[in-house]
Amino acid sequence: MAESKNEKSWQARISEATDAIAQEFVESVTYDWRLYKQDIAASIAHATMLAKVGLITEADRETIEKGLKEIEAEIDRDGAKWAGFKRELEDIHMCVESELTHRIGEPGRKLHTGRSRNDQVATDLTLWIFSTRVGLCDSLRDLCKTFVLLAERSTSVVMPSFTHLQRAQPIIAGAESLAWARLFEVDIARINTLSKCDMDLPLGSGAIAGTSLPIDPATSAQLMKTGHQPPVNSIERTASRDAACDFVYACAMIAQHLSRWAEQWIIYMSTEFGFIKIADRYTTSSSMMPQKRNPDMLELIRGRCGNVYGDLFALMTILKGLPIGYNRDLQEDKRIIFRAYDTVSQCLTMAAAIVNSANYDQSRIEPTLERGFLDATSLAEYLVTKGIPFRTAHHIVGTLVARCEKENKHALSQLSVETFNEVIATRSDVRIDAQVYEALGARNVVKRYQSAGAAGGRPFEEQLAAWKKRLGV
Ligand code: ARG
Repeated sequence: MAESKNEKSWQARISEATDAIAQEFVESVTYDWRLYKQDIAASIAHATMLAKVGLITEADRETIEKGLKEIEAEIDRDGAKWAGFKRELEDIHMCVESELTHRIGEPGRKLHTGRSRNDQVATDLTLWIFSTRVGLCDSLRDLCKTFVLLAERSTSVVMPSFTHLQRAQPIIAGAESLAWARLFEVDIARINTLSKCDMDLPLGSGAIAGTSLPIDPATSAQLMKTGHQPPVNSIERTASRDAACDFVYACAMIAQHLSRWAEQWIIYMSTEFGFIKIADRYTTSSSMMPQKRNPDMLELIRGRCGNVYGDLFALMTILKGLPIGYNRDLQEDKRIIFRAYDTVSQCLTMAAAIVNSANYDQSRIEPTLERGFLDATSLAEYLVTKGIPFRTAHHIVGTLVARCEKENKHALSQLSVETFNEVIATRSDVRIDAQVYEALGARNVVKRYQSAGAAGGRPFEEQLAAWKKRLGV
């Protein structure tokens, strides 16, 4: 005889009903219901396999599949409010199976043949990560697109680059924008490598040791149409959360990149810099200081990176003490994975909107562009082309910069050819002429870059063209 509704499948062994506090404590359906599509798809594959090997009939399979599809349509419609989500049933797996059995009777009681919640949850999570990856890459690509479009709007803006937050060399502003795009593009590649390892699906591993029934996990894996293989080792498959760690690590890397970008733009938005302007709709003001225009969204993106790092650390810490095999600690993984993913995907959407609204402010950048001797390296390289060893050229230019500062000149281009030659003569027989001025001044310098990936000249144009082709913009 069938057990009554809401009665747990293990009630025969446990002498009393779960304590009310424990019931609330142990449940996960309030958050793991998000796995319902994967849970149902894997159950349909499992039932199809069971029918194929003769453990259930074709009629049972048909009834199970129909029931599960009905349930899926209802959850699609009702979301977390679906009536079948009952905390006393603990998790998504029990809720779906219990509702199925309630609806279709005996065939529903056969679905769990040769399987355990331990391989079920590991399977669902694997499939969830596998499919979520795609949307995450789409969001990253959208963000890359906004940086590429900003680069295209900024090809005529020349600005300083910074190392140690001190003026370094002049760059096309668009090249910095493409630097951010590149970080996020590598994030896409990182996420895509996740689909290359860990490709054996836990389904069919049972609770830990597999099963004595003649199931065929290769068929179930194949039915998922994800390219997954059957389990290599049932113990490892039910115990491992490596794919989850890889996924959260990939999220943490995205969060890190977002945070660095946010930090840079927060600095650029200060009155001291004024290099970047973003739309007012992505700023807030102060309740006390009427003049304020604060980059709160950028600050929150920077701040939330801390949450995602915390998620990675939490997951790694949960795993470090677990003996091989399923342990209930593993239930916490889903909270962490969903939270890391939600945080990162919301930040990506916010970031794309901000970048879309942004422009480099040439009117603020230009007036100080010739400050900080941005062309010093270019001058040293010019001397190299005249036959002076780089180390000697470096020393000569250092002397010339010191000379400028002593004479209250703010730029190397203010020095005469005679002065250049006078300093060169202390170290070399080479002499130069007025052609040197073509290597001086930020705008001249950015045109001279020729190494692969450089921040101006043809390499920049090539990068931009390649991006536009890659993204179809
Ligand atoms: N809700 C559990 C989890 O998320 C499912 C597996 C529970 N298995 C068990 N034997 N208690 O990990």
